[in-house]
Amino acid sequence: MAHILAIANQKGGVGKTTTAINLACALAQTGRRVLLVDCDPQGNASSGLGLRISEPDKTLHRVLLEENGAPPLHRPLDELSLWMIPANPSLAATEWKLTATPGSETVLASRLKPLDERFHFMILDCPPSLGLLTVNTLCAAHSVLIPLQCEYFAMEGLSLLLDTIRKIKLRWNPSLAIRGILLTMFDRRNNLSHQVATEIRKHLGARVFETLIPRNVRLSESPSHGLPVMLYDRHCAGSRAYAALAHEILQKGADRA
Ligand SMILES: Nc1ncnc2c1ncn2[C@@H]1O[C@H](COP(=O)(O)OP(=O)(O)OP(=O)(O)O)[C@@H](O)[C@H]1O
Ligand SMILES: [Mg+2]
Repeated sequence: MAHILAIANQKGGVGKTTTAINLACALAQTGRRVLLVDCDPQGNASSGLGLRISEPDKTLHRVLLEENGAPPLHRPLDELSLWMIPANPSLAATEWKLTATPGSETVLASRLKPLDERFHFMILDCPPSLGLLTVNTLCAAHSVLIPLQCEYFAMEGLSLLLDTIRKIKLRWNPSLAIRGILLTMFDRRNNLSHQVATEIRKHLGARVFETLIPRNVRLSESPSHGLPVMLYDRHCAGSRAYAALAHEILQKGADRA
């Protein structure tokens, strides 16, 4: 049975997509079969792995709006056991159409079910909003990983996200767990980064992953080459950090396979 992990934070630019891509690939490098689902109309996870798909029929659109038919699985990189359901900007219109569907919150959950036996992990990259697409990912997920950028306003909006998670647990997905808070873009030469990390650990304690994701230029360069960081520069600090995160997640038992 696949473990479904949503990467969510309605705050923009905190490292959701960077984490979705590189965690998915780091897990695939351990031999797990991983499905990365791009649930964001920006399509950054797709283009970051070199997939620019214009036909809606080959994207998440088909999964959400067409009940029948095989989901459009792509395999962006031959060397990894990683599959992907990509997205493109038409997903914004799909979200609107989905609103008119009865039970619209749980459509993704039911469409991912038939894929359950084929993967060890499904990683869902969320858009920067708490709209219907994010709600769908939280209804489908076993757990959620929340990236927080090591900046002054990091925790702003966190209570709204935690409240949304609570409501989704009550109404649709009682076993949804918070897998962890991930500190991203940590700059060890910057005092503020240290202060924010300390403050967040003080408030959220054991919920925070031990692994810290450093600010690393390789992480921002690799998507423009259509590669995860570990295939772009396998020795850089970003590669090591996401390998450590995958290891921490496997150790803490998110691997239900
Ligand atoms: N650890 C890092 N070091 C350096 N740059 C990073 C790091 N993590 C992310 N970035 C860069 O920061 C920007 C935002 O990251 P990313 O796209 O992953 O955030 P996001 O939360 O998915 O954004 P959005 O809310 O728009 O979907 C990108 O340009 C990315 O390359
Ligand atoms: Mg993103």
